[in-house]
Amino acid sequence: MAGTAGSIGTVGELGQSNDGVDAGNADNAIETPTLARQTVSHDSAARNLTIIGCGKVGKTLGRLFNVHRTFQLLDVLNRSHDSARAACAFMGAGNAIANYAALRNADIYLLAVSDDQIIACCTALAATGKLSARSIVFHCSGALSSLALSSASAQGASVASIHPIRSFADPQAVAGDFAGTYCGSEGDAAALAMLIPAFDTIGAHCVTIARENKTVYHAAAVFASNYLVTLIDVARQAYMEAGLPAEIALRLIEPLLSESAANAFRLGPATALTGPIARGDMETVKRQYDAVQSWNPDVATLYHAFEGLTLKLAQQKK
Ligand SMILES: NC(=O)c1ccc[n+]([C@@H]2O[C@H](COP(=O)([O-])OP(=O)(O)OC[C@H]3O[C@@H](n4cnc5c(N)ncnc54)[C@H](OP(=O)(O)O)[C@@H]3O)[C@@H](O)[C@H]2O)c1
Repeated sequence: MAGTAGSIGTVGELGQSNDGVDAGNADNAIETPTLARQTVSHDSAARNLTIIGCGKVGKTLGRLFNVHRTFQLLDVLNRSHDSARAACAFMGAGNAIANYAALRNADIYLLAVSDDQIIACCTALAATGKLSARSIVFHCSGALSSLALSSASAQGASVASIHPIRSFADPQAVAGDFAGTYCGSEGDAAALAMLIPAFDTIGAHCVTIARENKTVYHAAAVFASNYLVTLIDVARQAYMEAGLPAEIALRLIEPLLSESAANAFRLGPATALTGPIARGDMETVKRQYDAVQSWNPDVATLYHAFEGLTLKLAQQKK
């Protein structure tokens, strides 16, 4: 049967699926996206890819893999058939299908569904009987490790997670400037041996992380992004407590934060550290803590936690 793992698709054959079904059929016939084409020559060029969950991330990666001829796009399965058809149109390839029964054998399956659907979709994929020791199954979640794909592992498949560290709010824009995107990657050696070179072809920088620490890895982004925003709001509230209007408070914070961040990236966090703890002005630190405690005990708890961590950082100063 055509479409057996590892048996089909070569560079230059894009647009034709392995069983003769035209990937650019009436449902999804559009012009190939106009990103620069780059021919690649490595093992992944002879592989095909099915995408289950072809939303913002799935269709961006699918489009890039198609344009760069990394993989031949096979089937696309979303909750809604219309949505799968629209994703195929965006990618310029792929065959929209309506259910798991219509899946053909693929070499690689990307589960780019929302995080809370990954386990269920993997279980449904495994139940089709399409997976074997030659199959690769991966997802793109930052929050879950490849262990979420254990039902595929149980069928002998190699599994991985490749998490692109950026926002896919605008898939067209991300597809246009994906080169240089860091991707936190972990998983089975066989899966990574295929996927990391494949992501290389679309300009990604894959960095390997420890599977067992995937949740701590994800927490790093929460600190760098979400909690940073919370911290800005805490500083804003403190300025407002001192009598400043909210919008002025934000204007005061912006240069402080921007310069400190720029220094931390340029010099490293320890060297960039300034302020009372870095100077050893611990009397000032105590007075500040007491004042914050009187104003807002929740913020004082935060202040105290930062104090300990900042002292350790200051000790690393040369
Ligand atoms: N968005 C980001 O910035 C970003 C960044 C890095 C990583 N990620 C990760 O990428 C993955 C996908 O995120 P996303 O933002 O692309 O999500 P999204 O835009 O909401 O797309 C999810 C897609 O999955 C489909 N889907 C949901 N449940 C399904 C099911 N049970 N069966 C089949 N298809 C199903 C949806 O189909 P319909 O279209 O029919 O609803 C939709 O096309 C997540 O693991 C996320 O953590 C996201």
